[in-house]
Formats: sequence, structure tokens, C-alpha cells
Amino acid sequence: MIATTRLTRRFGTFTAVDSLTLQVSPGEVFGFLGPNGAGKTTVMRMLAALIAPTEGDARVAGFDVRRDGHRIRQVVGILTEAPGLYRKLSARENLRFYAKLYGVRDPDARATAMLQRLQMEASQDVPVGRFSKGMTQKIAIARALIHDPQLVFLDEPTSGLDPEAAFLVREFIANLKAQGKTVFLCTHRLEEAERLCDRVAVFRRKILALDTPQELRRGRFGSRTLIELSRHDDTLVEAVRSLPFVAAVQWRKAPPSASPTLIVTLGDPRTQNPELVRRLVDRGAEIRFVREEQASLEQAYLSLTGSLNLD
Ligand SMILES: Nc1ncnc2c1ncn2[C@@H]1O[C@H](COP(=O)(O)OP(=O)(O)O)[C@@H](O)[C@H]1O
Ligand SMILES: [Mg+2]
Repeated sequence: MIATTRLTRRFGTFTAVDSLTLQVSPGEVFGFLGPNGAGKTTVMRMLAALIAPTEGDARVAGFDVRRDGHRIRQVVGILTEAPGLYRKLSARENLRFYAKLYGVRDPDARATAMLQRLQMEASQDVPVGRFSKGMTQKIAIARALIHDPQLVFLDEPTSGLDPEAAFLVREFIANLKAQGKTVFLCTHRLEEAERLCDRVAVFRRKILALDTPQELRRGRFGSRTLIELSRHDDTLVEAVRSLPFVAAVQWRKAPPSASPTLIVTLGDPRTQNPELVRRLVDRGAEIRFVREEQASLEQAYLSLTGSLNLD
């Protein structure tokens, strides 16, 4: 659905996007995660054919961003940082206007359907200028989807929203995925990328990492298996340490009331955990729980980008 080759954008001598090569499949929710000023919006604007690349190429929904910009703008949906709505027009009037602009066959029916889906029929005749930020954002998303595009670009869709409105917007994005739409989601919010995206690119002028949220979380720190035991026994630590594939083992620091828990660092938990458990049981351990430690995506992100903000 999206394929870029060494896509580059400079502003004067400043390089905002440096040789980006990337593929996004149909039906994928792809997260573009990076701090403020990383170049996310610039990438999105190039892909949506709103600005031209300085170098490199991109194909979007089968079209070339350099040659077929007009076609791309017809077939993709885009939610930018500014909602692009007429404040004096009602929600319904805004949607009807954009439906006509995109040549939707029955603009009124389409506006009705979108208002229903967003559960906004009750406020459909209120001027958008009187809406809360959350409601405005819902209408802005409806606007971006008015022509039923297969590919949607969303730039920081929950930015500035209260938690409840942000939740609604995330539900809506999850819904798009269920409908088979391809979503390119720019965000600086880790939990949002983690919750919604099939794959995430950590980006700062270049791609620093690209994987599923689960793998990003895992990759950097090695895997750690947590084993909760019924009693403390230091001979078990030695038994585990002598296994050839174990990189480290230690007791978890926890209050005395908590169950004793071993933290075992190893390379490939899927194949090594069974042997680890067998060794412990052979040595008389009573195991209550075995689970994987979840390193946070935030740790991975911070270590990749170096900081939260460029500015
Ligand atoms: N039209 C422009 N002219 C000059 N510099 C720009 C322009 N647009 C973006 N930039 C610069 O490019 C960098 C990336 O911006 P942007 O793509 O908006 O980042 P993000 O969306 O990740 O916050 C920033 O340093 C920004 O100041
Ligand atoms: Mg931006």
C-alpha cells in the first residue's frame, strides 16, 4: 500500500527526512513514532502528496507521489494537525460539504452514516466552533474518511484530547483496522502505538528501529523469565546459573511478604524455558508461576531516540 525508496526531504540545508525506505502492507496499522521535530509530519505530507520529496521515490495506493499527486489526494484520507473544518457550519454541513467535494454519490446519506457511526447524531446541527476538542476531532476524522478511503493518514490524532476523547478516537482507529483499512499513524505516544499498531517504526530523521511493539520491547534488553517459587533456596540460583544458555540469574528485590522470585536472563525463552523449569523441578523447587518480564516500550524508545524531545 505504501513503498518508499530513499525518500528524503530537505528544507534549505536542513535535512528533515533522510533516505527513508519503508513498506506498509494493505490492512496494516503502521505506527510512526518519534519525538517532536523528528520529521513525522513531513513524511506524512510527502506520502499524501502534499509536499514533494527532495530525493527518492514513493508509491502510495499504486500511484507515484511525484507524478500522480492528484490521484493520491483523491484516494487517501488524511487527518492533519489542523482539523480543517468550518467553525460556523454544523457537523452535518461540514461532512456534507466535504462529501460533495470528494464527489461522494449521496453526500447526505454519507454524512448521516458517519454521524451515526460516531454517535454524534444528537449534535449534528451544532456549529463545529462550539464543540469540545474531542468532538471536533471526531468530526475531523469523519471528514478524513468521508470518501471511504482504503488508506488513512492520521497525524497525532489524540494530541490535546482528554483521556475519554482519546479513548474514543483509539476505538475508532481500532475499528478502521477491523474494516481492513490501512492506517499510517504518526504519534509521539508510546502507549498509543503499542495498543493500536501492528508494526512501529521508531523515527528520528531516519528509522532507528522497526518491528512489532512486542519485539521492540523485547529486543533491546534480552528476555527475562520470572519464576515465582514457594520458598527461598540459594542452591537453586547455582543450579540455574550452571545452565549454559543462562546469561544471568538473581533474586528479585521485593518486600519479604512477596513470594521469592528468580529473574533469569536468557536468549530464547521459547526453547530454553522448558529446560530451565526442568532443572528447577529436578532440584526440588516448587514453582508457582513462570512468566515473561515485560520491559516497557518506553525504555526501548528512550534508548533509541536518546531523549523525549528535540526542542
Ligand atoms: N516547511 C518547513 N520549512 C522549514 N522547516 C520545516 C518545515 N516543515 C518542517 N520543518 C522542520 O523539519 C523538522 C521536522 O518537522 P516535522 O515533520 O513537523 O516533525 P514532527 O511531525 O515529527 O514533529 C523540524 O525541525 C521542523 O522545524
Ligand atoms: Mg508532527
